[in-house]
Amino acid sequence: MKKFIIFCAAALIVYACKHEIIVTKTVPTNLIYVPTSSTILYGAAGNSVTPTIDNGGESVVYSISDSTLTGISINSNTGVISWSNTVAVGIYSISVTALNSVGSTATTYILNVNSAITAPSSLLYSPASSTVVAGTAGNSATPSINTGGSIITYSLTGTIPSGISINSSTGVISWSNAVAVGSYNLAIKATNNIGNTTGTYTLTVTQTTTVVAPTSFLYNPANSTTTLGTAGNSATPSINNGLGTITYSLSGTVPTGISINSTSGIISWNTLVATGTYNLTVKATNSAGNITTSYSLTVNAAPVVTGVCFSSQILPLYQSYCALAGCHNSTTKRSGIELDTYATIMKGIKANNSSSSSYYTIIGRSMPPKANAQMSSAQIALIQQWINQGATNSVCAAACDTTQFTYTNTISTLFANNCVGCHNATTNYLGVILSDYTSAVNSINTITSTTFLSALNYTSATSAMNMPPSGQMSSCQITQITKWIKNGYPQ
Ligand code: HEC
Repeated sequence: MKKFIIFCAAALIVYACKHEIIVTKTVPTNLIYVPTSSTILYGAAGNSVTPTIDNGGESVVYSISDSTLTGISINSNTGVISWSNTVAVGIYSISVTALNSVGSTATTYILNVNSAITAPSSLLYSPASSTVVAGTAGNSATPSINTGGSIITYSLTGTIPSGISINSSTGVISWSNAVAVGSYNLAIKATNNIGNTTGTYTLTVTQTTTVVAPTSFLYNPANSTTTLGTAGNSATPSINNGLGTITYSLSGTVPTGISINSTSGIISWNTLVATGTYNLTVKATNSAGNITTSYSLTVNAAPVVTGVCFSSQILPLYQSYCALAGCHNSTTKRSGIELDTYATIMKGIKANNSSSSSYYTIIGRSMPPKANAQMSSAQIALIQQWINQGATNSVCAAACDTTQFTYTNTISTLFANNCVGCHNATTNYLGVILSDYTSAVNSINTITSTTFLSALNYTSATSAMNMPPSGQMSSCQITQITKWIKNGYPQ
């Protein structure tokens, strides 16, 4: 009997141990809330749904990582998030972590606490007027409004001219073909259950098709904020054309990289616009006169990118060592390979896998050709780092300080990254060699610093002489080189 019990116990341990091996626990995954967010009015307590999760074979403990979220808590067993009726108005991004003995997973839940309903405000028609020929029915654009969080009813106040009406739910003003000749200043009222706001609209009905000067010229929004190196454009402006054809133009000095479509009035900016705020004056002209309005564009410096930045650190290397004329630029494309844009470089790059990226592994082996300038091992390592960080098309301003302009600390790197691939002892277009201090100074003195700086500033007599050919360096980098030259080439 004793022997049998011992045998059984031993068997049980073996069984249990075997079992232990079969049931392997893993890190929890797939923590999901559906819906992933809640929008509530201030003063309403409530809670999220229960999330779903693959718990990895073991129960998990839920927690919220940000302890400063007052009034927001989580049930550590179920993962249900609760909020009290005192949570302040705002948008909260709640990071939820689910932990088991092996590891954790996380997700984000958004709680949007809206303020209570307020009276409407900012009722605006854009354009705020219309000029029509007698006998023409038509209507205004839909107005924009801050509804205060509730449903709006529109009405016309005062004496309403015959043939003019308003859609009470959209605010669109309509006129029939029977409205008499005249100019009508209409007053519009927008009401919700808390209060109201007013707006105006002018309808001018003329006897003939005589063109009058344009009015009601407006961009909505009238400003835009963008990041350095990002192209974009404004919305189409609204205008009362006065029955004429409008031509749009920018007045005054137009900043580099900003332009306007003369027919549509859309303002565009390209990737070369420097950081700063530009208050633009836009003029709209027809045969009877003109009107101006303003538009403001703010270009902010790019956020600091942690890790290697494609636009400022990687692209210049490929452009100056590989995309030379006759080699891998967009014109020659030797062996069908083009190495001067993100898209074409990515044809030979595998994100997160430098050893499978042929446009990386070939560098220093057979490319660039032995007779050409070679990348330094630091530059090759930078490309590898960029690939292994995900090879993203990160756009950013190069870290740049205009008070730094010695050859050793700054200028040699700028030349190495942007110029040396085409301007070295072997390859040296127009005899310009920028691969060492003495040659660089001699080259600049030979072609004159004025010619050299015109090339950098993209003001050369022929555009082929603008350098580097792939696109202008940042204004900060050009300032560094300019200071270096003007201060007598400090080493
Ligand atoms: C992809 C190759 C390439 C790169 C990169 C390049 N250049 Fe050039 N550079 C040329 C070519 C080609 C010419 C001759 C153009 C011609 O003859 O039409 C030239 C000409 C010049 C000239 C003579 C201009 C003149 O008006 O006489 C200067 C100065 C110059 N480069 C400076 C630079 C500087 C500075 C850089 C880096 C910021 C640079 N280049 C980067 C290819 C390049």
